[in-house]
Amino acid sequence: MENKTTVLITGASGLIGTAITELLLRKGYEVKHVGRTRRTIPNVKSYVWNIEQGIMEPEALADVSYIVHLAGASVGEGRWTEHRKKEILSSRVGSTLLLNRALEENPHSVKKIISASAIGYYGVRPQNTLLNEESPAGKDFMAQVCIAWEESLFKDNASIQKVVYRLGVVLSKYGGAFPKLVLPVKLLAATPVGSGKQIISWVHIDDVCNAICWAIENTKLQGIYNLTAPHPVSNAEMMKALAKALNKPYIPFGPPALAIKVAMGEQADIVLEGVAVSSEKIQHAGFEFRFKTIKEAIQDLI
Ligand SMILES: NC(=O)c1ccc[n+]([C@@H]2O[C@H](COP(=O)([O-])OP(=O)(O)OC[C@H]3O[C@@H](n4cnc5c(N)ncnc54)[C@H](OP(=O)(O)O)[C@@H]3O)[C@@H](O)[C@H]2O)c1
Repeated sequence: MENKTTVLITGASGLIGTAITELLLRKGYEVKHVGRTRRTIPNVKSYVWNIEQGIMEPEALADVSYIVHLAGASVGEGRWTEHRKKEILSSRVGSTLLLNRALEENPHSVKKIISASAIGYYGVRPQNTLLNEESPAGKDFMAQVCIAWEESLFKDNASIQKVVYRLGVVLSKYGGAFPKLVLPVKLLAATPVGSGKQIISWVHIDDVCNAICWAIENTKLQGIYNLTAPHPVSNAEMMKALAKALNKPYIPFGPPALAIKVAMGEQADIVLEGVAVSSEKIQHAGFEFRFKTIKEAIQDLI
């Protein structure tokens, strides 16, 4: 029998983890998960780690050629209390350091780690200049998280290739930002969030999954890449496109930024601020986005 290539996924119970598991199984890969709890999923072997205690079942690494590292406490849910901020940081950095140590301490055949990061790396910017991978990091909380997350990945195991995807806002009908944006439009009408001028560098979930598979299949690919659709849009443009697709009115004023800030605290930056990010580097490397415009993505998702 032909030996299948094995991929270990962390944070596999999440939005991207669920979708990439399905795609990898469809493509004939052997899939393993490591997470906070053991789960029962057909055709997937599930292992447990405890990041705080620095423990991971070593069998998780057996026969693994590629690791897709997605683990991280959600930044979109729950108010950013000091406790929550600590969890957001430590779930990413702690899990990466735990992987590093497990790889150093156990025999393995891992060739490449493909890790999520986020365009939050670039921080909140006053101007909507187009940012690329060489642009400096921001200074706010999410930027600090992304810097530490990426640094922890590159710190050890130099012989293993690493690909970091700085993900934009992932659009999926099954979770994340998109269903939250769609619901009020379906019920009533579309409005901008805050000024509506903030740029949303988005990416369709299928393109995220395809880019992960592409990184597995493309043996030469390594380094840091922005993973955002070629055409970022303003929040107002996105809401207008949603209104049009759902045949609902667009009302050009919505909840004021101040009200959102009072309701959400520091976390309000996620919806009120945006950055325009270029994905030219990954396109130059040969990756082709299936969903290039917000119209195409929305058409597919609603
Ligand atoms: N979705 C987006 O728009 C977006 C944008 C930029 C970056 N990203 C990054 O991409 C990664 C995957 O995104 P996603 O949308 O799939 O995230 P998600 O749905 O929130 O799933 C993340 C997974 O991480 C694990 N996790 C949650 N809390 C944890 C904790 N306290 N400690 C350790 N592990 C924890 C969970 O897996 P287990 O239950 O299996 O442990 C969870 O299913 C995340 O790191 C996220 O920051 C996502």
